[in-house]
Amino acid sequence: MTNGGQPPCTARWRRYEPCPMDRIHIRGGNMLNGRLPISGAKNAALTLLPCALLTDEPVTLRNLPRLADVDSFGHLLNQLGVSTMIEGARPEDFGRVLTMRAGRVTSTEAPYDIVRKMRASILVLGPLLARAGEARVSLPGGCAIGNRPIDLHLKALEAFGATLETTAGYVRASVPDGGLPGGIYTFPVVSVGATENAVMAASLANGTCILENAAREPEIVDLCNLLVAMGADIEGIGTDKLIIHGRERLHGATYSVMPDRIEAGSYACAAAITGGSVDLIGANADDMHAILAALRDAGVQVDPHKDGIRISSDGKLKPLTLSTAPFPAFPTDMQAQFMAMLTKADGASVLTETIFENRYMHVPELARMGADIAVNGRTAVVRGVDKLVGAPVMATDLRASMSLILAGLAAEGETQVQRVYHLDRGYERLEEKLSAVGADIERVSDG
Ligand code: UD1
Repeated sequence: MTNGGQPPCTARWRRYEPCPMDRIHIRGGNMLNGRLPISGAKNAALTLLPCALLTDEPVTLRNLPRLADVDSFGHLLNQLGVSTMIEGARPEDFGRVLTMRAGRVTSTEAPYDIVRKMRASILVLGPLLARAGEARVSLPGGCAIGNRPIDLHLKALEAFGATLETTAGYVRASVPDGGLPGGIYTFPVVSVGATENAVMAASLANGTCILENAAREPEIVDLCNLLVAMGADIEGIGTDKLIIHGRERLHGATYSVMPDRIEAGSYACAAAITGGSVDLIGANADDMHAILAALRDAGVQVDPHKDGIRISSDGKLKPLTLSTAPFPAFPTDMQAQFMAMLTKADGASVLTETIFENRYMHVPELARMGADIAVNGRTAVVRGVDKLVGAPVMATDLRASMSLILAGLAAEGETQVQRVYHLDRGYERLEEKLSAVGADIERVSDG
């Protein structure tokens, strides 16, 4: 394996330490134009990484994004006994190649300190249970965008035959001798993470596991495709009914992380709000129907081509009525970015958030920049304004932070976005990508 002429590095992952003083400064008004590369998907990476726990053979992931959440997950895997070897570790490389090997699982615990900082850590529960027969995982606790319990993860595993006990903030799970017997679970509401945990556990079950009303996000298809490459037997991939015939063992595989549809959608909104034309290189239109349909409805030109998707806008945006819902409908992870874009539409838009109960925390910050948004419960009415004005604003979560960046790109004057560590969780080299297409944006560090 090569690493730009250097040998690959075997590494324990460093824990991500945020720089609380970092800010992003944007001087708005520039039209964006050019080619913008789309990275590997954060949410796919976070469910592909724990698959390494399911086999004692090497699992190699290509196109792995350079993100704080990915590094934190690597750190957790190291703590569980997974060795990791990284290629493309130079700062100038985009997609990294990571080879993981869990020859022996040395710990079956995901501690509070890690899970509370990154909820996706609970995705080690299913694989640990399946491979080691037991797991102890901290309950994640509260989250900025909503309550986000993990009851559905636990109920699905219980339906497959796991024994669960919750005490002192931790879930202890175990399986009978010989592995999970299998069973049927019907999700009362669609859950991406619970579907992922259940599918990973089921892949090594002793019997057949059936999931009904399962999530069918593209990231779940990516997970199933990796598991199949590792020898898993899964029927119904891409549908809401997954039938997993457990295997005695899985083997290693090499797999490429899918492109990030939310990153691509976010930069599409950047092109639209600045009235520019951006080529999203590597984006896959097949995973983005609802996002692209909404952009077209807003008057944005969307042209998929063999290398990606070209997004062009004359800056004249039409208002929309949008409601978030599980895939294939419009994703909750794009709600904040569309809201920012629609602050510049010609008329009133109505957005309804059906997935998370507290996902409008960007509204008061957008209002500080001149946006006209009224929230009533789960519905927000966004009345387009002639201009936004730059201001110091505070990021509250990952996608909310991106909505402030988008507003800053279109605003008059300078916007300073604080708490940039939220963005580092999910946008690979945001300033670099946006500067390359003409944005006046920089990261400023006082620390
Ligand atoms: C994943 C994504 C996140 C996205 C979300 C919805 C990752 C790492 N994160 O989060 O970016 O916004 O899907 O598309 O992939 N719920 C329960 N009990 C549970 C689990 C979920 O009630 O056990 C509820 C949640 O509170 C929420 C809804 O189900 O209201 C959907 O959540 P879920 O799909 O599980 O989101 P995550 O997997 O946490």
